[in-house]
Amino acid sequence: MTDIDATAISADEWDELNFPRSEEQEFDRVVERAISRRGFLGGVLAFGSGAAVMGTGLFNSTSALAQHASRFAFKPVPTATDGTVHVPEGYSWSRLISWGDPLFAEADGDFAQETGGSVEMSDKVFGENTDGMELFMIGDAQVIAVNHEYTNTKVNLPASHADGKAGDADGVRKLQNLQGVAVMEVREGENGWQVVKDSPFNRRITHNTPMRIAGPAAGHDLMKTEDDPTGTESLGTFNNCGAGKTPWGTYLTCEENFNGYFGATGEMPSDEKIAAGYQRYGIGAEGRYGYETFDARFDVSRNPNEPHRAGWIVEIDPSDPASTPVKRTALGRFKHENAACVLAPDGRVVVYMGDDERGEFLYKWLSRDVYVPGGDTSTLLDEGTLYVGKFNDDQTGTWLALTPEATGMAAAEIAIFARTAASKVGATTMDRPEWVAVNPTAIEAYCCLTNNSRRGAGDDGEIRTNAGGDAMAVSAVNPRETNNYGQIVRWRPAGDNHASSIFEWDLYVMAGNPSVHSEGPYAGSANINTGNMFNSPDGMVIDTTGMIWIQTDGDDSNEGDAAGQGNNQMLVGDPATGEIQRFLTGPFGCEVTGLCWSADRRTMFVGIQHPDAPFPDGKDMLPRSSIIAIKRDDNALLG
Ligand code: FEO
Ligand code: CA
Ligand code: CA
Repeated sequence: MTDIDATAISADEWDELNFPRSEEQEFDRVVERAISRRGFLGGVLAFGSGAAVMGTGLFNSTSALAQHASRFAFKPVPTATDGTVHVPEGYSWSRLISWGDPLFAEADGDFAQETGGSVEMSDKVFGENTDGMELFMIGDAQVIAVNHEYTNTKVNLPASHADGKAGDADGVRKLQNLQGVAVMEVREGENGWQVVKDSPFNRRITHNTPMRIAGPAAGHDLMKTEDDPTGTESLGTFNNCGAGKTPWGTYLTCEENFNGYFGATGEMPSDEKIAAGYQRYGIGAEGRYGYETFDARFDVSRNPNEPHRAGWIVEIDPSDPASTPVKRTALGRFKHENAACVLAPDGRVVVYMGDDERGEFLYKWLSRDVYVPGGDTSTLLDEGTLYVGKFNDDQTGTWLALTPEATGMAAAEIAIFARTAASKVGATTMDRPEWVAVNPTAIEAYCCLTNNSRRGAGDDGEIRTNAGGDAMAVSAVNPRETNNYGQIVRWRPAGDNHASSIFEWDLYVMAGNPSVHSEGPYAGSANINTGNMFNSPDGMVIDTTGMIWIQTDGDDSNEGDAAGQGNNQMLVGDPATGEIQRFLTGPFGCEVTGLCWSADRRTMFVGIQHPDAPFPDGKDMLPRSSIIAIKRDDNALLG
């Protein structure tokens, strides 16, 4: 383990620091293959020089941009380094809810600066670190389901956070309660948007909520524990990052850095298969929060199979607070970012999913059965085929099926060790796949490849690898060594059918910094300029008009490679022109993550996660992750 303050870093950062994959070396190399490729639009892959942004590549003249100016109904905001949120002129934001605010009246007044709220009420309040979310219309009610990804011990347990660990059983219980998912009704009234306290839809799902395990891994020996010898029931959902929404109105919550909750008070498991899985998924002897010391379920020396019951996509019915969430193991076990659902023309369900770790893969799942509106969907996500992406340098690609024939693994083990199965078929190692977004106005999808500081060769000249030993050499889709900026890949399935196994791809944008790198790949693609630059695209949603909302979770030091890029932000891009404009800046230290719209689409709900600034309560107050509501002052549509 590295000697770091676990309270000062994000879950992604903790995971990378504690499980470094190989030696690091800084060097630049222009990637000729990528430069020479032509995108769908004839040149997004061309690299811009910061000074001539609109003169090369995609943008051949400023008039081309002017023709599309109406697609951006706002004046872009500049970068910011302060402690609050900025939106364009003519727009306003307000707080919807912050960590510690009550979802139930019994928790009124519970939140206090000295305590960060009581243990007793910690599963009755809005949890910590808001992330992916979706809005559902249930009858006349607008209901948001939202993830609580991880905790910041420093602020959640202000009286006892010395080493970033919970410190005692009460502390563990509180952290467990502040994570998971919230389901809450929201309503717009005279005082703007509010959460409806005590709504019959309100619910908190935590690290201890009973879940059902379904699909090919259910009942397998690797899923059985002392408490659940059937391998079909588990407690809790973990590190809920991005999300998804099915066509039948359920919420998909995605378990990402689940590995950090587990540790060992005794010997690590010696079973070869289990140990190999731990190595691939980053499960070590010391957990991030100290759960293993106070809750035996998280002590792998006593419960070696418990980590196999995390790392899944979980389906939740937001219309029924008494329903049991279901872990859908057919969709594979990895560090799930989000789940972007779309129907193939024949009604089969396609789910695109990223595995956010350096050099891990991009996946697609295709159902066996078709979705029939009003039909039985209770097992629709249990039978189907998991595929993994191979991105060729000629801008074609293939979804490789992870079947027993292709992998030599049984179906249950393909699900539980999906990473291993994907390595066996030669998938393309990616620069940390974060959110996938499907364009509702075109047959295409996008994935944020947030960054990968270790792509390329190490000090010894050897190409570095992921935890499975797969090389992270540069390729056309991941074209930069020491990639601190990230890129967004877009693919179009053959035959305009998301069920197709082949596709063409291009890069929608390569983020970069033209003020630091005057030319070359680190300046970014031609649609990046000093006025819209950013690093580390992460959250992404495409609205009903086809505009791409991009949220960042990157280096907000405003120095070095990130000089002039300010705090994390949200931008909006036009898929047709490639133009990107900055819409919002967050408070310092935050990640902007999670986005959904009100039913009338006149309000956007945006998540502000892990601010360091005392946001939104102000000076000397604890920083509180919050959802904000953004409206146009003229109440016009927002997407
Ligand atoms: Fe939770 Fe990869 O972000
Ligand atoms: Ca993310
Ligand atoms: Ca991230």
